Amino acid sequence: MNIQTKVFLGLCFLFLSFSPAICQESPHAFYLTWTEDPTTSIDVDWHTDEESPLQLKVRRKGNEEWRSLESAVLPYPFSERTVHRVAVRGLIPATEYEISFDGGQSVYYFRTMPKDLSTGSIKIAIGGDSMHQKEWFEKTNHVVTSYDPDFIIIGGDMAYENGLADNIERIYAWFDAYSKTLVTDDKRILPCIVAVGNHEVVQGYYRNNEGYKQTDDFRRRLAPYFYGLFAFPGQPGYNVLDFGKYLSLIILDSEHSNPIKGDQTKWLNKTFKDRKDVMHKIPIYHVPGYPSVRNYDDLVQTLVREEWTPIFEKNGVKIAFENHDHAYKRTYPIKEMEIDQSGVIYVGDGSWGVAPRDIHEVEDTWYLKKAQAVRAFTLLTLEGSHFSFISVDENGNVIDSFPESPLAPLQ
Ligand SMILES: [Fe+2]
Repeated sequence: MNIQTKVFLGLCFLFLSFSPAICQESPHAFYLTWTEDPTTSIDVDWHTDEESPLQLKVRRKGNEEWRSLESAVLPYPFSERTVHRVAVRGLIPATEYEISFDGGQSVYYFRTMPKDLSTGSIKIAIGGDSMHQKEWFEKTNHVVTSYDPDFIIIGGDMAYENGLADNIERIYAWFDAYSKTLVTDDKRILPCIVAVGNHEVVQGYYRNNEGYKQTDDFRRRLAPYFYGLFAFPGQPGYNVLDFGKYLSLIILDSEHSNPIKGDQTKWLNKTFKDRKDVMHKIPIYHVPGYPSVRNYDDLVQTLVREEWTPIFEKNGVKIAFENHDHAYKRTYPIKEMEIDQSGVIYVGDGSWGVAPRDIHEVEDTWYLKKAQAVRAFTLLTLEGSHFSFISVDENGNVIDSFPESPLAPLQ
């Protein structure tokens, strides 16, 4: 070996030893979501022990060349772990991109959403109350991934850690389950949108916390994991995600880290006003206005009906997703507190991975069209201006469909 070869090999060794893109280890967990238009972006988090910025490698599927993007390093609440976050922007709609967190040893991929729904459709797996037991969460996840949805939505009560440091193992378990079972067999990661529930928040509801103030700092103290580990909805805990001009997901906070009345409801009115031409406007929140299990007249349920549902009715909402009750339900279309074909259908009721509860008698409950004590999620399909859905239990049985007959007109 001549001296030039030795120098060359030595330099290669140094490069391999110190290049962060090559030395990176596999993360504890990862999480994909959106904070901007899902047709052209993705927000990638991964959790490690590394305190310095790391590189996320990204390339369009089929391309040779990787692009490296440096992470922002954020604190992981109550943990030595760190959150590495990269906002990927300027992507092409309806396109698959590969990513690697560990210098290329494991390659996953995601896909951006279509520019419009004129030629295609999107499928969303929606539910809530995901993890009383990790095994239940994972069991439903396996059914969810088998349907190959574009992404998932969990409307509150993700890990049941109640915002407490002592319950951090539940948060680790939730992200571990996400990273292992909300990934398809060919390694597509399903991006996730979440809403806040009572089990993200210390004592469940802002009003139970003395001296509550509607500030970022107070909300972060009430729900440290929710604000620290989920980039969306982020502060102030409610937000809207616009997919081109065809879909707006409206994520609300049902009294957990924000009051329903006041700023949030004002924001909701303005959000609809600014989106008059959007085809599909879908609210998602935790406590149901039309409960399948709990009391119709309880405080938060009543506030949802008094403050929000009239706004949904006035602004062309056709379907809203509710959670918290740990059962499956679908209401009749409702307008002004009566069954009305031009009204809003409420689907829920948060039973992705929890122990189901006994339901109200369907026949004796004026708003319930269907209800069942079962672990389940709903697979919503948006196609042009139409929507349809099926609801599926943890064993893969279809327990409901809308429209009920294939011959019935779509909404
Ligand atoms: Fe709940």
